[in-house]
Amino acid sequence: MTEAVNLDAARETFRSDACAGLARSPKHLSPKYFYDRAGSELFDAICGLPEYYVTRAETQIMQAHVSEIVAPWGPAVRLVEPGAGSSTKTRLLLEALGPTRCAEYIPVDISGDYLESVAERLRGDYPWLRVTPLAADFAVDMHLPHVADSDTARTVIYFPGSTIGNFDPPEAERVLARFRRAAGIGGTVILGLDLKKEPTVLHAAYNDSQGVTAAFNRNVLTRMNRELGATFDVEAFAHYAFFEPALGRIEMHLVSLRRQTVTLAGEMFRFAEGESIRTECSYKYDLPRAERLARRAGLRLSDAWLDKDRRFAVLELRPFF
Ligand code: AVI
Repeated sequence: MTEAVNLDAARETFRSDACAGLARSPKHLSPKYFYDRAGSELFDAICGLPEYYVTRAETQIMQAHVSEIVAPWGPAVRLVEPGAGSSTKTRLLLEALGPTRCAEYIPVDISGDYLESVAERLRGDYPWLRVTPLAADFAVDMHLPHVADSDTARTVIYFPGSTIGNFDPPEAERVLARFRRAAGIGGTVILGLDLKKEPTVLHAAYNDSQGVTAAFNRNVLTRMNRELGATFDVEAFAHYAFFEPALGRIEMHLVSLRRQTVTLAGEMFRFAEGESIRTECSYKYDLPRAERLARRAGLRLSDAWLDKDRRFAVLELRPFF
């Protein structure tokens, strides 16, 4: 008899994505499933690791150039942040704009609860700020709340953290095209992008000495056990991450340490010893490649700021129609 399980819509999507990804050869899972509460905390810990230069490099750029970045945005700005985190970087932008220029802040996230906590914190810290949370999966759809024709505020889409690197190029192009439509004529997209660099530096960033990235990677198995009733033996999977130069990306995998069978939602998935689940790709760009990607999405690269070691770039992109 099949166990009757009451799955809400999000869990049902998780279940069907997980089953489809594990049934494929090679097996894979979407990196968006890393981020339950434990996964988000582990990711925050990654951002502070000595080897994970990404967050530090981007924050340095924002600290050094925030006034230049916001200067061309005009007197009234609607700041939209897909996958919002109310991060230090967002706060730098909000503070640089201040009450006179920031007409509205729209954080976008799938989790309504998470959005509410982000909004509450920001309203507490910036009582002048109008926060309009939008519960949406920006990777699928992103319709901004209706903007009246008389509204002259410029829409700025802020997408930091190099999250765009977690999408395969065709998908990244679709995400950027969605941002272009949301920004509209006269709007701007500000994109954080991790740059290609020494493979050893990249390797260390995804294989930290404290094992936090390994715990982050394995947590998706714990999550499937808890939320989907899966039977993964978490200790029987090893974290494996490497830079693939031909594709210009880091790949993260979970490698089965032995032959085993895992059950998930009544389905059985067999693993050979050494077989892996690809859990994430993290594409690294150079500026010409980023410019080509943006152009295919209808965006023109109009400015770029790099840190002194040229590890990371913050790009200003403008829609052309
Ligand atoms: C969220 N994203 C940009 C991170 C990255 O670097 O691709 C996720 C991450 N995976 C392992 N470490 C960090």
